[in-house]
Amino acid sequence: MYEWLKALHVISIIAWMAGLLYLPRLYVYHCQATVGSEHSETLKVMERRLLHAIMNPAMLSSWIFGLWTAFELDAWDQGWFHAKLAMVAALTVLHMMMGSYRKAFEADANTRSERFYRMFNEAPTLLMIAIVIFVIVKPF
Ligand code: HEM
Repeated sequence: MYEWLKALHVISIIAWMAGLLYLPRLYVYHCQATVGSEHSETLKVMERRLLHAIMNPAMLSSWIFGLWTAFELDAWDQGWFHAKLAMVAALTVLHMMMGSYRKAFEADANTRSERFYRMFNEAPTLLMIAIVIFVIVKPF
């Protein structure tokens, strides 16, 4: 049961991370596209499908199987789990921010620069590195 839960958790986080790393990249390309162009309209469809069909369900199942695994492991009072949970909460905030940026692009009302999205794209990567170290190395 425990191994199955952890396997489903890792499958979920791989899908979630794939979206968190790809969506800001689409925003970089979207900044280069002319408002109203066919290219801009195609990017809107890609962004909407990536967020709604992949990232939202993957984030939900990452939390469900992660908390269920924590329950089985009784990890609640362990330092590594607290640190991991703080990083995952930050990752969830980034996910929500990406959702609001998508709405701005959908309304042709994006005001942020290409450089902003290139910088923003680094944040999920750095959090992912810290999360994996906390959960596998368990430094405290
Ligand atoms: C969404 C909330 C999350 C919760 C509540 C959570 C909780 C957990 C728990 C309790 C375990 C079991 C640890 C063990 O068996 O020693 C685990 C395993 C794991 N988690 Fe998460 N996690 C979450 C999100 C994430 C994210 C976002 C990532 C990656 C970016 C991640 C990566 C992993 C990995 C790689 C394992 C397997 C570790 C191993 O086999 O030793 N988790 N998670």
